[in-house]
Amino acid sequence: MQRLYVFDAYGTLFNVHAAIARRRDAAGPDADRMSELWRLKQLEYCWMLTMTGQYEDFWVLTERALDYALARFPSVDRALRPKLLEAYFKLDAYPDASAALATLKQRGHRTAILSNGSPAMLRGAVEAAGISDKLDAVISVDAIRIYKTRPETYKLVTDHFKCQPRDVIFVSSNRWDVMGATTFGFRCVWINRNKFPDEYGKPDAMVDSLSRLPDLVLP
Ligand code: LAC
Repeated sequence: MQRLYVFDAYGTLFNVHAAIARRRDAAGPDADRMSELWRLKQLEYCWMLTMTGQYEDFWVLTERALDYALARFPSVDRALRPKLLEAYFKLDAYPDASAALATLKQRGHRTAILSNGSPAMLRGAVEAAGISDKLDAVISVDAIRIYKTRPETYKLVTDHFKCQPRDVIFVSSNRWDVMGATTFGFRCVWINRNKFPDEYGKPDAMVDSLSRLPDLVLP
């Protein structure tokens, strides 16, 4: 039976810490803490804008979040800023991403991305990862200028594929995204690579790698 797998992008298919990983030596001992704060502020800006009925392009928020993180960690050379942003535009996909998508397509399933990323960012990352031919759709919330976890964003998927929420197997490493998607009615798989503790929004399944998806049996 054909299934529809919809993937979160940043953190699930693409490694948001790959930008700093390529320059950890140059960035120094605060590299990882700076990268963590960069990601947290990027998401905080999405949530705060959405909760107050505003919108800014995800790339603008990514730049602002990096500027904040660099200000908080002055030991990281600001001269790295352009290189970090260039690397973020072509983020490395996780090693398990391409093969998992290929297997799903070989088995006749449909695959897509639903992301806060801007269309240009997603084009950059998908092309750099060489997975364009393994995706039936790349959906950016930019179309409605509202960020996840608002239900309208998940509705972009059911509108695009003309399906019911339960028809969608949503795959995300971000537990906040799992909470939003399960609330909307998607079946959800939480990719818990780092063995994080359980919390809100119960997924239908939890795995530690995308490679487990094709053979995963869901309720
Ligand atoms: C995404 C990340 C921000 O939407 O979760 O791709």
